[in-house]
Amino acid sequence: MTADVKSHAYEVDKLIAEDIDAYLAQHQHKSLLRFITCGSVDDGKSTLIGRLLYDSKMIFEDQLAALENDSKNVGTQGQEIDFALLVDGLAAEREQGITIDVAYRFFTTDKRKFIVADTPGHEQYTRNMVTGASTADLAVILIDARKGVLTQTRRHSYLVKLLGIPNVVLAINKMDLVDYSASTFHQIVADYSAFAESIGLNAFVPVPISGLKGDNIVEKSDAMPWYQGPTLLAHLESVPLGDTSASQPFRMPVQWVNRPNLDFRGFTGLIASGSVRPGDRIRVQPSGKESTVKDIVTFDGNLDLAVAGQSVCLTLNDEIDCSRGDVISTALDPAETADQFEATIVWMDEAEMLPGRPYIMKIGTQQAAVTITEPKYEVNVNTMERLAAKTLRLNSIGVCNISTDRQVTFAPFEDNKTLGSFILIDRVTNATVGAGLLHFSLRRAQNIHWQSVDINAEAHAAQKAQQPKLVWLTGLSGSGKSTISNLVEKKLYALGKHSFLLDGDNIRHGLNRDLGFSDADRVENIRRVGEVGKLMVDAGLIVLTAFISPFRSERRMVRDMLPAGDFIEVFIDTPLAVAESRDVKGLYQKARAGALKNFTGIDSPYETPEAPDLHIDTTKVSAEDAAEMIVARILA
Ligand code: ADX
Repeated sequence: MTADVKSHAYEVDKLIAEDIDAYLAQHQHKSLLRFITCGSVDDGKSTLIGRLLYDSKMIFEDQLAALENDSKNVGTQGQEIDFALLVDGLAAEREQGITIDVAYRFFTTDKRKFIVADTPGHEQYTRNMVTGASTADLAVILIDARKGVLTQTRRHSYLVKLLGIPNVVLAINKMDLVDYSASTFHQIVADYSAFAESIGLNAFVPVPISGLKGDNIVEKSDAMPWYQGPTLLAHLESVPLGDTSASQPFRMPVQWVNRPNLDFRGFTGLIASGSVRPGDRIRVQPSGKESTVKDIVTFDGNLDLAVAGQSVCLTLNDEIDCSRGDVISTALDPAETADQFEATIVWMDEAEMLPGRPYIMKIGTQQAAVTITEPKYEVNVNTMERLAAKTLRLNSIGVCNISTDRQVTFAPFEDNKTLGSFILIDRVTNATVGAGLLHFSLRRAQNIHWQSVDINAEAHAAQKAQQPKLVWLTGLSGSGKSTISNLVEKKLYALGKHSFLLDGDNIRHGLNRDLGFSDADRVENIRRVGEVGKLMVDAGLIVLTAFISPFRSERRMVRDMLPAGDFIEVFIDTPLAVAESRDVKGLYQKARAGALKNFTGIDSPYETPEAPDLHIDTTKVSAEDAAEMIVARILA
């Protein structure tokens, strides 16, 4: 190789290296737009996204070849590539012709980087939309020009407004199928404007497009000279991203405490809003302890300033308690804490929401047990009407009061998406069953305090010279709960113990006469009995309860209300066939005949205890012996 060639090769290498650096630098500084597309399969949503990816040249060669092959296989009209195939990645989805889960796609142009969450349009998939939309800067609402504003357009718009997505594009698609008619476009825009105003959606940008033909997607369409606005991509590239979170007060939910050795203790998290500098006075919430920031530590060295969106590790000048789930706020303007709220809840589970049942609430890195009241109202997302509701079903949206078992650091969703939104998890199945947005804390939470009393639970128990207990019998109707608990109480009485028996049928004549046998009513039944039982335990009594109490969740809820060891769960285990053959009250016969709905064991579930404190198999043990076993356990 001559010296010339060598130096040339070196130059080329250097140029390539410079290019790559320049490229990376350029991409690093490009802003990122997160957007979602809302529409149904028929609106051509997948085709539109495919077209965006294709026309912005963001498909790799091999993908393109595969796409062309696929398009031939499904026999698309003419020479056109079926862009929907690009997006509908999963074979199963393709066969059904629908897109099911939220899929995130990444693409970039010279001006901006994009992440698009592709959410399905089918009625039952509100939850996917909520999942995909929570962090979006913009929503593209698709309308089929032939159909105009539909129920689902209204539903999507309502959700977009609810989730606080700041920018809306109304993409009026399939303009090719309405002869690129200006009047059709203007009519749809007028219809939509009227609706948008009614839900407080103040601004949107309408664009007439054809995803299939590519009109006004990337290139301006020659077929619609009457349209003067930007193409869809031009708008996506230029819409201002007014992120206001940086100008708000400093909040950082603590993700974990970094303690590599005794000399270093740092609190790591993603800054949810505001900014922080070394020397700033901070408050750890909910405890309220204060300190000042020593250093802001990152992998790339210490910072003089960190802002919303950055992940950092803060060290403090004082040794104060702070752990995962706490929130570090500026001491000048700390976050609010409360344990009762009004919230909008989107229910996402097949099983309906049960007022009174404890769920797990995750809000940022905080976790609490939460119970939800009956909805104040449910919103019909198709008509925006407010409806009365006793519960929330899959995909329904309602406004409820909620109460947590501890102080939660929060902000209204309007002010802070991170500290204002939460998810709900079922304690037994661990499934995510809902999502919610906090409106405000309820004042009554701040105005009701525990009254301290001098004659407390210990004093009551001491006076009666006994250890109070809540003895919880659970089992099917006709399993023998009442018979056995009655025997137990007689034995306790004979021993001079102070006791009380709460029996299902009796309580349902008085305190709980307003309750029936729906799941929700059973939950409320047990909640009230648990509260009454707890009061009686505080009064120093040995309390026996005889309720079917079919759900694990509520039995566990009552267990958690009492000090460890004071709750004794007794499973009166009688097989359904045996209970049914006894049928003391004739109810099984009625249920089998269809004259009694929601009967436990027949058409309403019984969840057997997984780890009862006592398990009594009534096919092997007599009622008398069962009672002896229980008494022995109580007095142990
Ligand atoms: S629970 O499920 O909410 O715990 P609870 O123990 O209070 O039920 O009441 C059960 C009693 O109500 C049964 O023993 C039976 O006598 C009566 N009952 C009436 N209708 C039903 C029903 N649909 N399912 C179960 N029990 C019923």
